[in-house]
Amino acid sequence: MIDFLASAHAIDLVLALIAVEAVVLYRLARTGRCPLRPRETLLILAPGAFLLLAARAVIAGLPGLLVPALFLAALIAHLTDLRRQWTNRQRVAASGDHAETGLPALSPRLLYRLASTHSFSERGMYLNLGYWAEARTIDEACEAMVELVGKTAGIGSADDVVDVGFGFGEQDIYWTRRFAPRGIVGVNITPEQVQAARERVRAEGLEDRIDLREGSATATGLPDACCDVVTAVECAFHFDTREQFFAEAARVLRPGGRIVLADSIPMRAEPDPWRNPLRAALFSIARAALAVPRANVYPRDVYAAKLAAAGFEDVRVESIRDHVFPGWSRALAEDAGLRRRLGPAGWLLRNFPDAGMKDEFDYVLAFARRRTT
Ligand SMILES: C[S@@+](CC[C@H](N)C(=O)[O-])C[C@H]1O[C@@H](n2cnc3c(N)ncnc32)[C@H](O)[C@@H]1O
Repeated sequence: MIDFLASAHAIDLVLALIAVEAVVLYRLARTGRCPLRPRETLLILAPGAFLLLAARAVIAGLPGLLVPALFLAALIAHLTDLRRQWTNRQRVAASGDHAETGLPALSPRLLYRLASTHSFSERGMYLNLGYWAEARTIDEACEAMVELVGKTAGIGSADDVVDVGFGFGEQDIYWTRRFAPRGIVGVNITPEQVQAARERVRAEGLEDRIDLREGSATATGLPDACCDVVTAVECAFHFDTREQFFAEAARVLRPGGRIVLADSIPMRAEPDPWRNPLRAALFSIARAALAVPRANVYPRDVYAAKLAAAGFEDVRVESIRDHVFPGWSRALAEDAGLRRRLGPAGWLLRNFPDAGMKDEFDYVLAFARRRTT
């Protein structure tokens, strides 16, 4: 193995892989499935490829000006790429639009299809990190989270509720029994979850009170002004984009209606890759793997401003991170059943290198009221 790695064949292999990568990236960029322009994909790979070609030429003993010419080409490609990055960075800084750069996020539908029927709670099928102010187990904590959202929204018997990202429908069954709203319409993007949730609702005999549909939070297909409450428990960070969801919520809510979200956001603006490359890379990987579009990465004050801009008043965005993350981390460390239910994700969450990442995330409870005028 060592012999192979030190041989010219290893360089040939890496060059072949770069060639394949170049073709794949170029095609993705041309069809708009990669956030780079086609030319940029080649520019990114060119310096490494020229350097490897130069090393290969040295090993093969190729004569003349070829080796210095390849080194020069590597240098020029590197400087051109640096200029491209510099210009992009200035443009992004000037526009405040971060959505066009960084790793593309995994699709939430794919994420939850992969997660299949794995859920966090043992009793029921919750998929939230839990509210641990008084809870001692993950079951109690997940239920406490939906109790908190339901109470904050003030769900009552006269309310029509629209619940987006309902997971396996556990929260809708809970709210129906606890607060007896007039009805709940749920919208969820993962078809398998919708099917499983419908079966759960049918088994509870609540199908005339809870109507669960497959669809997107940003385009629910529901009529204007059809509800009094919109809820989103630990899911709005996935929406493409959260801002579009705010607009959709404002559309479906009656004037004076309430929106309540339990949501995770960063504590501050995204780590700067130029100042802190490791933290920025870990943040970017975590964001993309957790299916969070880059456009949703902003802190609490921006969150509140976006709600206000979408047509809401009485906006409150409160951090509840101290009642969420420590309890969740403790449960991950101490509850073998939770880790088993999470499967490989449990291992990953427990062992993902921290590098100060815990300080990067906030968890908020947001409330706002649809403006009446
Ligand atoms: C972390 S789970 C939370 C589930 C549930 N609220 C709970 O607390 O158990 C996120 C949910 O959001 C849903 N979701 C993600 N993107 C969505 C979108 N654009 N529209 C509707 N639902 C979405 C997923 O299918 C999943 O059910």
